[in-house]
Amino acid sequence: MTLDPRPFAEGPARDARFAVREVWAEMDNLESDALLNREFLHRQMNEEVNGLEMAARNLTDFPDAPWELRMAIARQCWDESRHVTMFRRCYERRSGRVGEHPVLNFQYRIITRIDTLIGRLAVQNRSFEAAGIDGIQEGIAVARARGEEDLVELLEAQLADEVEHVRYANDWIKRLTDAGGARAAFDLARAVAHANAAMAVVAGDNTVQYPVAEELRREAGFSAGEIAAVKEAREP
Ligand SMILES: [Fe+2]
Ligand SMILES: [Fe+2]
Repeated sequence: MTLDPRPFAEGPARDARFAVREVWAEMDNLESDALLNREFLHRQMNEEVNGLEMAARNLTDFPDAPWELRMAIARQCWDESRHVTMFRRCYERRSGRVGEHPVLNFQYRIITRIDTLIGRLAVQNRSFEAAGIDGIQEGIAVARARGEEDLVELLEAQLADEVEHVRYANDWIKRLTDAGGARAAFDLARAVAHANAAMAVVAGDNTVQYPVAEELRREAGFSAGEIAAVKEAREP
């Protein structure tokens, strides 16, 4: 499938091992793609590469951002690179081979189409990664019930990092909005609308959503009203 290029920037480079697909329906979507099974681990490994690539692009594309914010983004690069390694290790321990399943790079393609840092933080950290927190919380319970201790360990370490990625973005979005006024608020809203439209193209009729991890979202800097709004949208 070829995507309408307008909402999607060019994808990141991948070597010859990887078959890159554009939308969810083109993935293997095996029965075994359920949370934490092999295809999931492979897909998540590549999504962590996307996380690293997007954060790295935020450093190169916005060299004038406040130093403290750039340091938080640089730390995120380091965290995401560790996540790639952790997922790869668990995947290969289960006899997975890198490149065995297709991958999606929609996150990178949506994010790098956004031309403001506040917009990218709103979509990558505050939306994609916040949804990730909900999924990880669910994943820990599943891994624990199955007695897969290496996955419990991986997910608990990842969760601590992802909460911090959402938290610093929430913090900086407030600071950038306070400093930038209506223009910043408009940039944020424009980015979120763009991402919602692009996600609808990628996801199609796939609507996997996990219960909202309220306590963790609070820890990550969301207000009670924001958490209620996510719950309302998910469980109307
Ligand atoms: Fe990550
Ligand atoms: Fe992250």
